[in-house]
Amino acid sequence: MERITWFFLAAASCLTMAAALTNSNLTTDESALLALKAHITSDPHNMISTNWSTTTPVCNWVGVSCGARHFRVAVLNLSYMGLTSTIPPELGNLSFLVALSLRNNSFHGTLPLELGRLRRLKLISFRFNNFMGAIPSWFGSLSKLETFDLYGNRFSGSIPAAIFNLTALQVINLSYNQLSGSIPREIGNLTQLKEIYLDRKNFKEIPNEIGALNQLERLFVQFNALEGHVPLAVFNMSSLITMTSYRNSLNGSLPENTYQHLPSIQQLDLAQNQIDGPIPSNIGNLTQIRMIDLGWNYLTGIPP
Ligand SMILES: *[C@@H]1O[C@H](CO)[C@@H](O)[C@H](O)[C@H]1NC(C)=O
Ligand SMILES: *[C@@H]1O[C@H](CO)[C@@H](O)[C@H](O)[C@H]1NC(C)=O
Ligand SMILES: *[C@@H]1O[C@H](CO)[C@@H](O)[C@H](O)[C@H]1NC(C)=O
Ligand SMILES: *[C@@H]1O[C@H](CO)[C@@H](O)[C@H](O)[C@H]1NC(C)=O
Ligand SMILES: *[C@@H]1O[C@H](CO)[C@@H](O)[C@H](O)[C@H]1NC(C)=O
Ligand SMILES: *[C@@H]1O[C@H](CO)[C@@H](O)[C@H](O)[C@H]1NC(C)=O
Ligand SMILES: *[C@@H]1O[C@H](CO)[C@@H](O)[C@H](O)[C@H]1NC(C)=O
Ligand SMILES: *[C@@H]1O[C@H](CO)[C@@H](O)[C@H](O)[C@H]1NC(C)=O
Ligand SMILES: *[C@@H]1O[C@H](CO)[C@@H](O)[C@H](O)[C@H]1NC(C)=O
Ligand SMILES: *[C@@H]1O[C@H](CO)[C@@H](O)[C@H](O)[C@H]1NC(C)=O
Ligand SMILES: *[C@@H]1O[C@H](CO)[C@@H](O)[C@H](O)[C@H]1NC(C)=O
Repeated sequence: MERITWFFLAAASCLTMAAALTNSNLTTDESALLALKAHITSDPHNMISTNWSTTTPVCNWVGVSCGARHFRVAVLNLSYMGLTSTIPPELGNLSFLVALSLRNNSFHGTLPLELGRLRRLKLISFRFNNFMGAIPSWFGSLSKLETFDLYGNRFSGSIPAAIFNLTALQVINLSYNQLSGSIPREIGNLTQLKEIYLDRKNFKEIPNEIGALNQLERLFVQFNALEGHVPLAVFNMSSLITMTSYRNSLNGSLPENTYQHLPSIQQLDLAQNQIDGPIPSNIGNLTQIRMIDLGWNYLTGIPP
């Protein structure tokens, strides 16, 4: 989240500046936000109800920041406000929005198609809400998206292929939803990916294409239904810092020499799988390692 703090740089006093610029119009943004306000059914801490008043400039509203260049709403961050609401289609009119964060509220319902018009979005965090339905494929049109975080909602169905159009994506966090299906091979197309959180689902396979993600630092795929041989491509990723794949059904043996190709690994958790064969003798050569758990497998031998 911190990576976008620079968006806040120059907010404030944008209303007066906007008035001086004929091509800027905050009125659209204001009515979009008022539409959202009208959908809020519970605001226990009175965050929005009194603060979002038409007597004060939109850019001074709590949770709202305007961009320095266009003097339009660039960030909407209503995280941790305890709000209960749905998202109205009007929110898709915030055409200069770069970051939309609604973490830890009770937003619910499905996501309106109109959000697909927010082409400048770099960050979406809907973490810890009650959104439901399929992950809409219009997310695939948000081509600048870098962080895509739906952690802890009730999204169901499979990951739409359109997501793999998002070539700027750096973080994908879909953990704690009700998704199933497969991790599509196209994930190997997202070469900017640094963090993948796809745990607690019913995914059966890690595609080999993941080996193409040469910037990947964190891979969380625990509590899935992964089966077949331990994915060797993953044991070849020099950027990898954390890999947790416990509670799956991976089998086969661990590669003897490929640890040389994990120079950055700090945390490796493969516990509770069906891995057999010897514990690789050169495991002590993982110089950065801080945590390793291979327990509850069928491994033999004690590493030197
Ligand atoms: C802003 O846009 C709306 C609708 O497009 C228009 O009705 C209004 O006159 C505009 N306001 C300014 C200050 O340009
Ligand atoms: C709304 O909240 C912002 C940020 O907390 C604050 O600066 C501003 O004074 C508030 N405005 C009103 C009208 O309460
Ligand atoms: C949103 O606000 C929360 C707390 O107010 C902060 O921790 C978080 O970094 C912000 N996120 C974004 C995307 O601005
Ligand atoms: C905003 O969005 C709504 C619904 O998507 C639409 O009806 C409306 O005309 C849009 N434009 C403005 C300027 O509010
Ligand atoms: C966010 O929500 C989760 C799940 O309800 C909870 O465990 C966590 O403590 C919440 N965080 C904050 C800062 O409210
Ligand atoms: C991916 O993007 C291309 C071009 O932007 C578009 O033609 C295609 O329909 C998109 N695919 C999906 C699955 O959204
Ligand atoms: C995604 O969820 C994991 C926990 O599974 C958490 O550690 C990580 O920070 C989350 N990522 C983002 C971008 O919120
Ligand atoms: C995406 O991945 C698929 C399957 O790995 C591949 O066939 C396709 O060429 C890739 N597309 C792009 C645009 O890289
Ligand atoms: C590993 O699991 C797969 C799929 O469950 C199975 O087909 C294969 O025979 C197993 N291989 C070994 C060596 O146990
Ligand atoms: C590991 O990487 C090396 C060199 O890049 C390559 O030759 C080898 O095929 C890779 N092995 C796997 C299992 O991906
Ligand atoms: C592992 O490190 C030891 C020294 O600690 C060294 O003798 C050995 O050659 C290394 N093995 C590999 C495979 O790098």
